Parts: sequence; C-alpha cells; structure tokens
Amino acid sequence: MRVLSGIQPSGALHIGNYFGAIRQYVALQEGNDAFYFVADYHALTSVRKAETLRKYVFDVIVDLLALGLDPDRATLFVQSDVPETTELAWLLSTVTPMGWLEKCVSYKDKVQQGLPAEHGLFAYPVLQAADILLYDADLVPVGQDQKQHLEITRDIAERFNNTYGEVFKLPKPYILDQVAVVPGLDGRKMSKSYDNTIEIFDDPKTITKKAKKIVTDSTPVESPKNPDTCNLFQLFKLFASADDLADVDRRYRSGGIGYGEVKVRLADAIIAAFAPARERRADWVAHPERVEAVRVAAALKAKTAARTVLDRAREACGVGRSRTP
Ligand code: TYM
Repeated sequence: MRVLSGIQPSGALHIGNYFGAIRQYVALQEGNDAFYFVADYHALTSVRKAETLRKYVFDVIVDLLALGLDPDRATLFVQSDVPETTELAWLLSTVTPMGWLEKCVSYKDKVQQGLPAEHGLFAYPVLQAADILLYDADLVPVGQDQKQHLEITRDIAERFNNTYGEVFKLPKPYILDQVAVVPGLDGRKMSKSYDNTIEIFDDPKTITKKAKKIVTDSTPVESPKNPDTCNLFQLFKLFASADDLADVDRRYRSGGIGYGEVKVRLADAIIAAFAPARERRADWVAHPERVEAVRVAAALKAKTAARTVLDRAREACGVGRSRTP
C-alpha cells in the first residue's frame, strides 16, 4: 500500500505532531511503500525568511529521522524538490469550485488569527490535494485537523476523474481516535498558532517549565477529580506506563493527588520518552552530509513516482505534447 503524509516546516515539531502523525508514520513504514515529505511550499504561507525556511526544513528532516523514520524503508523528501507538485496543483485548481475552498476552516481560522488573506493560503487545500494525488497515495496518516483537507482531496480527485477519465486514486485518511486531537497547555488543540505547545526536542528544563503551565481547575489535593475531562491527564496518558496510569487514575478518582505532582511526573515521562531520539538527533545534526544524501536520494525516488502521475494527468486533460499520436 502507498502511504503518504506531509508536515509543514513552520517551526519546531511538538508532541501533537508526534502522537497525531509521526508515530503513525513510523509504524506504517513497515510493510508499506511509505512516502513522507517536508511541506515547504505550504510553509511559505507563514514563513517569510529564506534562511529561516531552510533551517526549518533541515530541522524537520533530522527530527523525523531521529524519531524513527528509516531512510531505507521510507522515502523522506522535501516537497519543493519535486516541482511537479505545483503543476499538478494548477491542473487541479481548474476543476475546484471556489465554494469548496471558501468553506475550509483552516483558511478561516488563520485569517481570523491575523494572517493576511492571501491567495496561497486560500488555495492551500488544492496544493495539498496535489501532494497526495501526485503519488497515488492509498492511505494518509494525519491528525483530525487535516480531515477536511482529505475530504476536499477526494472531491477534487473525483471531479477531475469525472471530467477527464480515471486518472487519480482516491486516498483514505488514517486518523487514530485516541490521538486525533492532542490538547495543548491551555486545553485547546496543541498548535504553534495557539502558542500552547510542548516541543519534542525542547530541552528538559523547558519541558518541565511548560508542564507546570498546563491549565487545570482548582480542585484541592484531597478532593476527587475527573481524569476524563482533565487536560493534564490526557497528556499524561500519552506518556505513562500502564502501571503509572492506573495509579494516577485511581488517585484522581479517590482524591489524594495534586495536579503539581502529575505535572512533574508528566515532564519526567516526556523527557525520558524522547531521550533516545534526542541522542540520535544530535548524531544526524553532526553529519549534515548524511542528511543531504537522504534528501537527494529521496527526491529522485519521489520525482520518478510523481512524473508518472503528472504525465497521466497532462495527457488526460490535453496539455503538453501527446504521448499517443
Ligand atoms: P501540520 O504541519 O500542521 O501538522 C503535521 C501533522 O501533525 C498533525 N497534528 C496534530 N495531530 C493531533 N493533535 C494535534 N494537536 C496536532 N497538531 C498537528 C496534523 O494533523 C498533521 O498530520 N496541511 C498539513 C501538511 C500537509 C499534508 C499534505 C499532510 C501538506 N500536504 C499532504 C498530509 C498530506 C499541515 O499543515 O500539517
């Protein structure tokens, strides 16, 4: 099965990215034909310094390698190393009704947060559809916030196929319920744009400091608490061992545990969970030539796959010289 997904290089990756997406990338590289990419064309909608963007791209590649993507199993490439993407985006945009893009929540959200209402931001889902359809993807592991983009991708593919014949495969989203929306420090979805993140590779001191900021109610230590509605508990659940989880769950319900204690245990668990990846990351960072080699090899593979599908789409809609005289 062809698995494909992308991450924007718009800042350091956080634990929402990890549980909502990256962990599934790692699991799905086994036994599948997996393609993962760093979505730098998409990041241009928010990152406006060339140097910064290049640094973020490098950082995301090393983060993904450190977190377990194996370049011998998965193709880990950079979106703009395959400029065919932008051509397909144009072909797709010619069959995409404005109304579909107007109803996209991510565009409305970002404009509401103060980002300028630019065309790139508006047309973002068409570029994302191109990313996915260009590789004949069967399965796309993502968090819940990308569900609407996946629906639009399928709609665009169907519309193109209805217009020009069967060109594109219809991809399916792969969203795991328990981690579809990882909460941030304030209980809203963890997101760079809400400034409520814990970064995967934050240094241990910062992780502890941030964990202390997690918003909770003011139930006193001795009173019973409801773990199911507690943001702190939801984060703890992601990292705790089965025994620790059972212990904290029981003490929440009976009373006798304070949020302060859980915050410290959570911070320790996060630091321990990513310690091996932190070491692997330092190793990749020390060998940028190896990172570059991964990028170059993956670009070649991705480009070859992309070319086949783009040629199919060009042929179907009549642009370029025909391959069948
Ligand atoms: P991005 O870069 O915002 O996020 C990368 C992945 O992390 C998931 N995610 C979360 N999951 C659970 N809880 C959270 N709090 C959380 N925050 C982020 C996202 O759902 C995503 O899977 N548009 C995409 C990038 C993209 C893409 C694609 C994805 C471009 N082209 C093609 C799939 C296929 C984005 O902005 O993700």
